[in-house]
Parts: sequence; structure tokens; C-alpha cells
Amino acid sequence: MNESSLIQKITTLLTAASQKAFPEMTGEAEVTPATQEKFGHYQCNSAMKLTKIAKKPPREIAQQIIDKIEDKEGLFSKIEIAGPGFINLTISSDYLSKMLDEALRAGPPVPAKKERIIVEFSSPNIAKEMHVGHLRSTIIGECLARLFEYLGHDVLRLNHVGDWGTQFGMLITYMREVVPEVLEGKKATDLPALMEWYRASKKRFDEDEGFKERARQGVVALQSGDPESKKAWEMICEISRKGYQEVYDLLDVKLNERGESFYNSMLSGLVQDLEKKGLVTPSEGAKCLFLEGYKLPLMVQKSDGGFGYDATDLAAMSQRVKDEKADRIIVITDAGQSLHFDLLFHGSVKAGYLDPKKVRFDHVPFGLVLGNDGKKFRTRAGDTEKLIDLLNAAVEQAQKILADREHNMNEAEVEKLAKILGIDAVKYADLSCNRISDYQFSYDRMLRFEGNTAAFILYSYVRISGIKRKVGDVNIEELMKKATISLNHPSEIELGLHLLRFRETLEAMAEDLFPNYLTDYLFNLAQKFNGFFRDCRVEGSAEQESRLLLCEAAAKTMARGLHLLGLQTVERM
Ligand code: ARG
Repeated sequence: MNESSLIQKITTLLTAASQKAFPEMTGEAEVTPATQEKFGHYQCNSAMKLTKIAKKPPREIAQQIIDKIEDKEGLFSKIEIAGPGFINLTISSDYLSKMLDEALRAGPPVPAKKERIIVEFSSPNIAKEMHVGHLRSTIIGECLARLFEYLGHDVLRLNHVGDWGTQFGMLITYMREVVPEVLEGKKATDLPALMEWYRASKKRFDEDEGFKERARQGVVALQSGDPESKKAWEMICEISRKGYQEVYDLLDVKLNERGESFYNSMLSGLVQDLEKKGLVTPSEGAKCLFLEGYKLPLMVQKSDGGFGYDATDLAAMSQRVKDEKADRIIVITDAGQSLHFDLLFHGSVKAGYLDPKKVRFDHVPFGLVLGNDGKKFRTRAGDTEKLIDLLNAAVEQAQKILADREHNMNEAEVEKLAKILGIDAVKYADLSCNRISDYQFSYDRMLRFEGNTAAFILYSYVRISGIKRKVGDVNIEELMKKATISLNHPSEIELGLHLLRFRETLEAMAEDLFPNYLTDYLFNLAQKFNGFFRDCRVEGSAEQESRLLLCEAAAKTMARGLHLLGLQTVERM
């Protein structure tokens, strides 16, 4: 797939034609997929936009553009003007066949410009369990990271864990007083225990003045580099890390940890720099960076001299631009933090840490996870939702559902499939909804075999890839040497066109950062494949070779799409 996408080719042709007809025109022609199949495959809406320049009715403009189209490769079988001046374009089946055949044989995409892209996701807070918000960030982040990697970019995945701040003084002080044997390394522990101590330390902090003071000193000790405190902190981080890793392993997620503490040594320099630039305003003892149009400032340094979330993020932005040489920076968190990242963006631009003309920054927000009752999600245990429990429960449910279905798998196979299906279902359910909206978490719904679900897509994949086996032992490599794809039946053409839209779907997703573009695409692919399979005989037909290659293209695209979503595929189901 080194070639440009179908939509890009059409855009290039129509841009050239428009500029020839109207040399005053600037920019690219506007080409979009047709809204309805009866209108053709794509449409160009430029004529309406050109009325200001051309001072003519749009239909006339459209005709003038059409007259200048130089279709040397034979892309179009039909070009029509419709409505007020849309240009409806139908791609010829010969051209579709040729492009699809090339796509089947091509390697991975090569980007016009290889970019350095930072995708920051997951980012739980040390000594606390991940919650479902971190689950969403992890699933969406992994998917976007895979997308950019596949598109040929240089991706740095960062886990910006909350591993710094006053809470550690509190927790270390508490552990030192209540469970010293743990800090001394005489007793092993785990993340749930840490979380309990964290809660208890907070309670004590609020109730006990003496403890409050000792905890404050604890923070000072830690931040001034006291070796014993540092060791305790490292231990707490290590225990938490182990807990998170369990989740990442289950989800098949790769991350590089680079937490808040990484930026600690840069913070006093940051404040000095901002002061030098005259951007710091004192406010109730704290140092603040105020921005036009926002009541809330970024707090650069707290009144007690400490640094917080805002300062760390400013330092991170600067470091990522300057040292990491990022072309794009993408941060995935719940929508509740949108204001923070708005401020961070404007603050970074104002301070000169980020030039939006050179580096693109995106905060990728997502909505809440809701339970069946429409309220904020809680696990069966009730109180705090433990991620690992939630994932294991999905696997358990998948196992139950599989046991009730007719199948000819043995126990070990069912178990293996349940593990894949359970996790895939959780991921797919998350990715397939528009991430901005809240989404309702329902094991029943996500594990259905019908509709826009992981099970349906996986099942379609199994069917598609199983056709080869059915036809007998076809060797696709051999077949590719002697046969090509030729699309003729309308259902074949529809499937072929959809397959060729894979690339533009990924490009749109890279632009807008919505994983549901890809789930929608795959859901459509499954349906178009079913249409083809219903209408076109493969085995024993005169078109068997071409159709087998079409199946291969569909299977490959499906597998690729599933992989980009972070889903595992199966060969049988
Ligand atoms: N640790 C934060 C949380 O759990 C998320 C960090 C997001 N990233 C950032 N650069 N601030 O809410």
C-alpha cells in the first residue's frame, strides 16, 4: 500500500481540473465519499465553493471542471452533475480491480513524512488501583499508538504515571509507623494493600494533627532527596508497577513508564524561565500563569514552594518538544481534564514551549463509563472498581456464553477462546462508541454475537479466512503469482471499493483520533463480505481464482484492522 489512497487520487485529479478551469482557485478540491450508493462512489463539492470566484451558477462551474478532468488512468466510469452542482463520481470496476490487486500485493504504508509521535496514555496514579477511566485511556491509547506505528511513524508510548506529590509523604509516614516491616523489605505486599494504606493514611491525615505535621515533614524529606524516603518511594512505585503490569499483560499493551517524577529536576528552572519571561503573577502566595479568557490560572508553584500537576505538565510539554523532537503530542485522558489541557496548550504556546505551527498537540478526551443503571460504573464488589476484576469477569462471562453455544471445541480450546473473546469484547465495546460520549458497560451487550460487537467481527473473520480451507488446499502465494482480482458482480464491486477505503479510513482516524472510524469500517466490511458471499459463489465458479484473492484481501484487511484495535484474532470459533 505504498500508493496514495483512493480518495487522495481522486482529489488530486479534481484539484488539477478545478485549477485548470479556474486558475484563481486555491487549495484542494473537496472530495468526500458519496452519501448514498446510487449517487456513485465519491462526490466533489467544489463547484458551490467556486461561485464567488467564478460568478456563475454552480452547475456550469461543475461542467467546466468536468471538461478539464484528465483521466488518463481510466479511474471513472461515470461522472454526473447532480442537485445544485455536485459532481458525482463512479469508479470503473477495472480500475477498482487493478487498485485492489495492487493493494493485496503491497507492503505496509510509507508516510509522505515520517513523524515523531508521542502517545501518552494509561497514566494511573501510584499506590492506587487503576480505575475504568484508566482502562479507557489504555485501550484508546494502545489503538492510536498501533495506528501510527502501522502508518510508518516513529511512535513513543508514554505512561505518565502519577508518581510524585504530597501524597507520598503521607503514605510513607503512615507505612513507617504502621507497617515498618514492609518498608524494611521483611514482608512482601501488593497494590491492593498499598491502596488500603493510602486510604487509611489520608483518613489519619485529616483527623490527626500530629500525623499531618509528620506527613508534611515526610514530603520535605522525600523532595530533598533523603535516601531512606527515596527507597520507600521506590518500593511503593515498584509494587504499583507490578499491579499495573498484570493489567497491561492481560490487555496486551506496551508502554514506557515516564512518570511525573521524571520532570522533577526541571521544575525550578521552569519557574525561573517563566518569571524571566514575565509570565508569573503571584496569587495568594502561589505563583500563577494567567491566560486571557480563562479565570483559572496554571499554578506554576504552590504557596508552600511545592510543585503540582500544572508545573509538571508544562515541563513535560517543553521536554517533549525540545528533547524528544516530537511532531505530534497526543494525551489521552477523561473529558474531566479538558480544561486543564486547554490551559496547558495555551500556556505552553504563550511561554514559547510549543509552536502549534510546527508541533500538533491533541488532548484526546473520553466520556465516563456507566453501569447498566446509567450511573457511574461500579464493579460487583461495589466500592472501588478494580480493573483486573472487571477484565477477569469479562473472561468468565465469555466462558459461560461459549459453554451455552453449539461448538465442537474441547475444553482447552473453549478456555483459550474465552480469554480472547472476553478481553476483545471489552476493548471493542469501548472503541466502537464515539469516545466523547459516556458509554454503558454491559457484559451482556458486549458479548453478543450479533451487531457491532467483537464476537460478530471475530466470527466474520473466521468465516472469511475459513473459505480458503473449504475450497481445498489453496496456496494463496501461488495463486497470487498467476491470477489477478477482477470485480464484476455489484456485490463484488461493493466489497472491493470498501476494501480500498481502508487506507483513507486510517488516515481520517489519524487526523481526528476517533477509533470508532475503524470499528465502523470493520462492521461494514463484515456486512459487505456477507453480501458478497451470499450473492457470489466462490468454490467451483468460473471466477474462483479472482474471488479467492478477493477473500484473501478481505481477510488480510480484517486481520489488520483487528490488530490495530488491539484485538486478538482466532482461527476457529
Ligand atoms: N495521572 C493522571 C490521572 O490519573 C493522568 C495523567 C494525564 N497526563 C498528563 N500529562 N497530565 O488522572
